[in-house]
Amino acid sequence: MEHVPQELLQSFRPPAFHHSYFISFEGIEGSGKTTQIRLTKEFLEERNFRVLILREPGGTTFGEHLRQAVLSTTTQLHPLAEAYLFAASRAQLLHEVVMKELSIPNTVVICDRYLDSTLVYQGKARNLGHRLILEIHQHFPLNLTPHITFFLEIGLDTSRDRQRQRNSPKDYFEGQGEAFYRKLIEGYQEVRELFPDRICTLNGELVPDEVFALIQERLNALLKSDPSVEKDGKRS
Ligand SMILES: Nc1ncnc2c1ncn2[C@@H]1O[C@H](COP(=O)(O)OP(=O)(O)OP(=O)(O)O)[C@@H](O)[C@H]1O
Ligand SMILES: [Mg+2]
Repeated sequence: MEHVPQELLQSFRPPAFHHSYFISFEGIEGSGKTTQIRLTKEFLEERNFRVLILREPGGTTFGEHLRQAVLSTTTQLHPLAEAYLFAASRAQLLHEVVMKELSIPNTVVICDRYLDSTLVYQGKARNLGHRLILEIHQHFPLNLTPHITFFLEIGLDTSRDRQRQRNSPKDYFEGQGEAFYRKLIEGYQEVRELFPDRICTLNGELVPDEVFALIQERLNALLKSDPSVEKDGKRS
């Protein structure tokens, strides 16, 4: 695996707001991110949190323009163009939305894919390397990471089966080929090793309720570590 200096890794940390949390979900297509985000939102709202779900690129006027630019391009983007474009959208999203929302107590911001997806897709699959992606993100506010990242781990066959069952309009496998997906899986393994404290790996092959039980356990631990949370899990 490519060497990433400790110094660089240490420039990444979660935002320092009290009583608010930043969470991301990661995993290849069909790993259950959307399913688990929905369950997580319900769980947190029952505990009186305000929950915001974000997707990139987008979430701001500027980000939506960038999203349109990506969707409407007729030529394949250079991986570096793609990486900087995502970073630009992300910087604006952090500045305009994430930081402001998290400064309001009892808020949880959930990202459906975040930094780790950039590391895996642009860094690994498109060969830019993890180090370069991290260097692009090393300055504030791009150096902000989630408090916790739930990585839903599934195999290639499961991803393929679930995409077929869902009757997904786009067939990623035909579009990208199996080698691409193997790189993504390998990329996620590497990224887990870079951020072992933040990334919580879950067996995404389990049934949704079983996966969510594991998420709930980790969420309870995260909320318990905050002294403002009362014993019943409700916020004061
Ligand atoms: N644990 C699970 N077991 C079986 N099927 C599941 C599980 N989780 C999700 N599914 C089903 O698999 C499909 C993909 O799930 P979902 O949309 O949550 O994945 P995703 O990670 O958000 O995918 P994408 O990256 O394409 O957005 C859906 O049809 C969903 O109902
Ligand atoms: Mg999804």
